[in-house]
Amino acid sequence: MTIKALAFGIGLATLGASPWAFGEGNPAAGKKKAETCSGCHGEDGNSNAPIFPKLAGQHVAYLSKQLHEFRSQSRGESTMAAIAEPLSDEDIADLSAWFAKGTVHVEEEEGDYSAGERLYRGGNLAKGIPACSACHGPHGEGSGEAGFPALRGQYSAYVAKALREFKAGERRNDRNQMMRDIAAKLSDEDIGAVSDFVSVLK
Ligand code: HEC
Ligand code: HEC
Repeated sequence: MTIKALAFGIGLATLGASPWAFGEGNPAAGKKKAETCSGCHGEDGNSNAPIFPKLAGQHVAYLSKQLHEFRSQSRGESTMAAIAEPLSDEDIADLSAWFAKGTVHVEEEEGDYSAGERLYRGGNLAKGIPACSACHGPHGEGSGEAGFPALRGQYSAYVAKALREFKAGERRNDRNQMMRDIAAKLSDEDIGAVSDFVSVLK
């Protein structure tokens, strides 16, 4: 048997064992369950205030990872811990499927975003900061498979808070410390500029 055929066989066996093996949720069920989330995250995942991250159009795998980590309190201190605590694995899959279907509203541009854009697209060689776009994509689309969240249109205030928390090591759920290592090299100015740029990125 060739390696390819073997891999294919394993793939089929996994699928056969359980259609839910990949945690695929039901968006219709998720929509109902999301009523308790809408006060902060909006009905379709476009949140009402910049301290609440937009969830609309985010990758399913990323949303689901965060909810599991809020529930197990491994993302760090967060108001989401108590909210995620009663959720079952199925709830998490359904809610993630629902919010991923939404379309994120990108913020209106006002002002000069060039410093943030330079950092986002080119990093800073002298300071050893890689380009954000290398992982989060040229349009801030991220990658579901690679576990890189979409950033496009996200509120600047939330992005800045996330970066400050990675920098301080308060948020520590990033695989291989990927974001903590990068955020450690960002100045407050870098954080402000790149967060503003992300909010208008599409
Ligand atoms: C009281 C307001 C509130 C409610 C209700 C709420 N959230 Fe949140 N949510 C937040 C805040 C604040 C954050 C940012 C938390 C942080 O950074 O620690 C957040 C973050 C998240 C994130 C992470 C987003 C990211 O980009 O990393 C997900 C996923 C999420 N919430 C899902 C939900 C779901 C699903 C529900 C309903 C079951 C819900 N939230 C209800 C306030 C709320
Ligand atoms: C090597 C890949 C990589 C690079 C380069 C990278 N990131 Fe990330 N980033 C990640 C990963 C992986 C996560 C998700 C961590 C997790 O699982 O919660 C993440 C998460 C984030 C988050 C949290 C999103 C949310 O919704 O809570 C922000 C904000 C962020 N990155 C901003 C940036 C910025 C700004 C840059 C450039 C200065 C950057 N990233 C460069 C891999 C990367």
